[in-house]
Amino acid sequence: MQQATPPRRELGDQIAINAAHARHELASCLSRQIATLPPKYFYDTQGSKLFEAICELDEYYLTRTEARILSQNLAAIAQRAGADVALIDLGAGNCAKAFKLLARLRVRHYVPVDISTAFLSEAVKTLAQAYPDLEIHPVALDFSERFALPAAVQALPNKLFFYPGSSLGNFSPVQARLFLETLRAAGGDLLIGLDLVKPAAMLEAAYDDALGVTAAFNRNVLRQTNHLLGSDFDLASWRHKAVFNADHSRVEMHLQAATACHVSWPGGGRDFAAGETIHTENCYKFTCTGIEEMLHSAGFSDIACWSDPDDAYLVCHARAG
Ligand code: AVI
Repeated sequence: MQQATPPRRELGDQIAINAAHARHELASCLSRQIATLPPKYFYDTQGSKLFEAICELDEYYLTRTEARILSQNLAAIAQRAGADVALIDLGAGNCAKAFKLLARLRVRHYVPVDISTAFLSEAVKTLAQAYPDLEIHPVALDFSERFALPAAVQALPNKLFFYPGSSLGNFSPVQARLFLETLRAAGGDLLIGLDLVKPAAMLEAAYDDALGVTAAFNRNVLRQTNHLLGSDFDLASWRHKAVFNADHSRVEMHLQAATACHVSWPGGGRDFAAGETIHTENCYKFTCTGIEEMLHSAGFSDIACWSDPDDAYLVCHARAG
């Protein structure tokens, strides 16, 4: 007999995730020969706030470049989107990016989807005041695990998946293609923003800023791991590292042990040598032709793309069928 999926529970102000699954996943990732931590655990309330601060940094050009491309091409995007749009905002966070789209696109239903539930509900309150006629259906979902929209959302006509911020770049290439195929199969058009390959120095600065906000964001995953797994990471003993791996076309984020240490958690633990790392995130960088090929191979068609004058970033609208 097929086992039912365990119910998703909210962990205090934390994330929409199953507690036992989180403990198992974190312990097994930390026990690998090269330890890893899944990037979804960055986004508790504190991590979401730190990410918001990252988006304001001089070095982190992604957010402002994407915002400029979107605002300069809103008329064309609105025309392609049509009327009575059901805007499904994947990883909505503080809903700030959708806020501007809602003013110009003819959106009837707004579906913010995010793993960080408390953060989402605050943002939704503000949005409901600004757009009283909008039908808002917030969804707390860890879509890196499994993409399952509520039936009422799935049934909405003229769905437009909005996936900004180069978040697709946090998936591996295989996961990214599968995720795009899932969106295509769900019958929605796609408005997506992706970061383009550029010189390593600019990429590394974007992920290792002078103020140390990204370092705090990276270390926060240890705080969240201590909370979920019951581990005893000492955050001050871990250094933030961001390197561009040109062979894989990705910026990698790591945490490096400043000194040899032992980390324990209920039922387990491991030694880390001085200098040993935990791989916390990959941020893939794309080419324009690579993006078009990826969208086509996931089944999207009639693709329109817009860039900035420096070709730093690309926004695309693609049709499901
Ligand atoms: C959420 N995601 C698209 C960010 C990125 O640029 O890959 C996460 C991030 N990590 C460090 N800085 C920003």
